[in-house]
Amino acid sequence: MSNIYIANEENIAKAAELIKNGGVVAMPTETVYGLGANVYNSKAVANIFSIKGRPIFNPLISHIADIDFLSAYAQTDGRVLALAKRFWPGPLTFVLNRTESNPALDLVCAGLRTITVRMPNHPAALELIKKADVPIAAPSANLSTTISPTTAEHVRESLGDRVEMILDGGPCIVGLESTIVDLTGKDTVILRAGYISRETLENFLGEKVLVSNGDPDKPMAPGQMLKHYSPSRSLRINAAAPAIGEFFIGFGDTPNANIDLSPSGDLIEAASNLFAYLHLADKQTNFSKIAIAPIPSKGIGLAINDRITRAANK
Ligand code: TXA
Ligand code: MG
Repeated sequence: MSNIYIANEENIAKAAELIKNGGVVAMPTETVYGLGANVYNSKAVANIFSIKGRPIFNPLISHIADIDFLSAYAQTDGRVLALAKRFWPGPLTFVLNRTESNPALDLVCAGLRTITVRMPNHPAALELIKKADVPIAAPSANLSTTISPTTAEHVRESLGDRVEMILDGGPCIVGLESTIVDLTGKDTVILRAGYISRETLENFLGEKVLVSNGDPDKPMAPGQMLKHYSPSRSLRINAAAPAIGEFFIGFGDTPNANIDLSPSGDLIEAASNLFAYLHLADKQTNFSKIAIAPIPSKGIGLAINDRITRAANK
């Protein structure tokens, strides 16, 4: 029997019960599917790390459904609340200083004094969090370092029966992980590029936003590991044309492409297709390698290039 369940009211209620009782549930969000558990349940959170094969020095995002909850959980200020009001629910994640009284587990924060929070923009995820009545810790619902999942089927292919329940809320609309901003200091620093671009944040805040590529060996450059999002086959980026044996993923109507991320050259469409096409390319029987055409590095194109550069790292 499949562990994929349509995200209807009945199944969301069932998933919420599971979360309350220390289970692990894969849930849809607008970015990628998440592997969720109760942030306050140490066994459940430990299970996330074990199911994914994730190093425990890599902290998790707490998903919440109510902005008011933020103040109990983390130290906020005008900038934090303004960003939350403008961009939540949505693909923007905050790294904040923990409040002393925050009971979230050290495991969720990987022992850091910071806590990472976002409010996902997907009705099923919001409903699940509300019904479970706890923040849900969730990394992407795939094995560590592999291609991120943008459908319930991708989750099943990666994690199989290791997860009790996969809530199917359809394909993820954004298709790339959230933008992560560090708001623990005076500066606003992007730790992971995503759908919400630096320009968008600068326009809203009316000040410069910094970008940190981090140190891939340290948790504070979290998850910005050099090898990440990787298909099992070799991947070549910035390819002008396919070499022999390569399944060629184009952009902007690339000649000789086997599939095109966006024939019209729309970067948002390309982002939403990226992981799904990498999954598809990894499964081709007539090809043994993958190549991707150059993607312009502007707007969300920066995030796309961030992901495929890591995906191509050996
Ligand atoms: O779109 C998303 O953000 C998805 C969906 C499921 O919400 N989640 C996601 O989680 O991408 P994950 O665990 O695959 O990536 C979260 C990243 C990791 O690279 C982690 O290292 C970083 O956020 N992170 C978490 N807490 C942090 C902290 N306190 N300081 C710095 N980086 C942190
Ligand atoms: Mg991930």
